[in-house]
Amino acid sequence: MWDAVARFAKEIRVSEFMSDMISRRDAYGSDGVMGALDCATLYGLTRWLRPVVVVESGGFIGMSSAFILKALVDEKLATSKLYSIELSEDCEQGVLIPDELRSEFEPVRGRIEDLLKANRLPESVDMFLHDSSHSYRHMLWEFRAFWPRLRDGGLLVSHDVQMNAAFPEFVTKTYAHEKKTGRRDFQRSSHHEWGRWGYIGFAIKKGSTG
Ligand SMILES: C[S@@+](CC[C@H](N)C(=O)[O-])C[C@H]1O[C@@H](n2cnc3c(N)ncnc32)[C@H](O)[C@@H]1O
Repeated sequence: MWDAVARFAKEIRVSEFMSDMISRRDAYGSDGVMGALDCATLYGLTRWLRPVVVVESGGFIGMSSAFILKALVDEKLATSKLYSIELSEDCEQGVLIPDELRSEFEPVRGRIEDLLKANRLPESVDMFLHDSSHSYRHMLWEFRAFWPRLRDGGLLVSHDVQMNAAFPEFVTKTYAHEKKTGRRDFQRSSHHEWGRWGYIGFAIKKGSTG
C-alpha cells in the first residue's frame, strides 16, 4: 500500500494538474485550503483505495475535492461520487474544481452534524475525509460518527492531525493488544493499519487486504 500511495503522490506532484491547481488556488486566495503535499497524499490514497462513495467535511472552495475527483477520473471510476459538505453560505463551494471533473461532484450545503441527524448522507461510505472544524472535540466526533459508516477496508482520512490529539487518540481506541503475547488482538482491533504523512492522517478499517 505505502509504495503505491507514494508512487501516485509523486506522479501528481510533478504533473501539470498540480501546477494548474496551485495557480488557481493562488489566484483565488490560498487561505484555509489544503497545501500541495497533502493534496498529493490525498490523491495517492484515493487512487489506491478506488472508492465508490466518498464523503468530505469542509469542502470549502474545493482544493481537496479537486484532487479526490482527479484520482477518481484517473482510476476510471465513472460511477463514483464525492459528497462534499460545506457549512458556510458565503463561500463559493467547489469553485476551484476544473469543469471536466465536476460530473462526480455532489456539493451539500449545511452543518455536518445536522446532515447526519437528518439522514441526508450515505449510509455506507468507502472513504471519509475530515477537513472541517479542527477543534479536538469536533474532530473526534466526526471520526466516531463516520467510522461505523465505513465499509470494511474503507479509509478514514483526516487533514490537520497535528492540531491536537484527536487522531492519535482515535487510532489508540481502535487498536487492542494481547497482554500475553504482546501482539495485536485482531478480534478487538477495528483498524487494520494507520499512518501519517505531512498533515494527513489515515486509518484503514479492518477487513482490508491492503
Ligand atoms: C479548512 S477549510 C476546508 C478546506 C478545503 N477542504 C480545501 O482544501 O479547499 C474548513 C471548512 O469547513 C467548514 N466547516 C466548519 N465546520 C463545519 C461543520 N460543522 N459542518 C460543515 N462544514 C464545516 C468551514 O466553513 C470551512 O469552509
